[in-house]
Amino acid sequence: MARIVTVAAAKGGVGKTTLAYELASFLGGVLVDLDWDSGGATRMWGYDPDAYRRAPLLDALEAGPEGRVPVPRTRRHQPALVPAHRDLATSTIPDALVADCLSAWATAWEQEWVIVDTHPGANALTDGAMQVADLVVVPVLLGAREMDALEGMLRDFGGYRLLLAPNMVPPIPPRRYVERLATLANGTPVAPPISEHRWIRRRLRRAALTLQPQPGRQLLKAAGEFRALAEAVERASG
Ligand SMILES: Nc1ncnc2c1ncn2[C@@H]1O[C@H](COP(=O)(O)OP(=O)(O)O)[C@@H](O)[C@H]1O
Ligand SMILES: [Mg+2]
Repeated sequence: MARIVTVAAAKGGVGKTTLAYELASFLGGVLVDLDWDSGGATRMWGYDPDAYRRAPLLDALEAGPEGRVPVPRTRRHQPALVPAHRDLATSTIPDALVADCLSAWATAWEQEWVIVDTHPGANALTDGAMQVADLVVVPVLLGAREMDALEGMLRDFGGYRLLLAPNMVPPIPPRRYVERLATLANGTPVAPPISEHRWIRRRLRRAALTLQPQPGRQLLKAAGEFRALAEAVERASG
């Protein structure tokens, strides 16, 4: 049985795509990109949806759980990907159908893991992906407004199995937010933190950090943190 892990957050720019890309890579799963924005996993992977006439993910969602299963694309050192398309933004597919499709595909792919990246905030695609998830990974930044957003999310999604994943954590984490996170978590598991790696924003390589051959010292440190996150995901979803 495949485990479905959905990466979601109320806000953009917190690391959903980065975490989803690394989790799918390290765990060897399929990455389903449900984020229609062009700054997402699909472009990062090197797939240009505009170069194709059809949108495989949209077609498959419209065909429903009994329809044809989308075939993940594969590339060396990158996660297997079901790419997004900008028309997902205007799709009217209900959340329950999204959930049923993901569940059917997860079985058909015969992989141990399916990782779903999402568009920030509430929408039917994200709702469906959260409903069917064995675990919802929520990247968390140690900032005032980010903590407010997390508080709201914990209130709305208390019924889900969540793993909080502190990301972009500075070398000296601000104590007050570390404490607030512990208070907010209140029993919800918290993954080992991922540091702020400034060079990640400038990186042009498409290889996953956890799969890149001949990593340098900087990259090894980051890859180690993402591996620790993947291990926390394995524990929390088991
Ligand atoms: N741990 C990190 N350290 C430094 N930069 C990061 C880290 N995680 C993500 N980023 C960068 O932050 C930006 C937003 O990350 P992204 O994964 O696209 O967030 P989201 O999907 O939530 O919008 C990207 O430029 C990404 O490279
Ligand atoms: Mg994203």
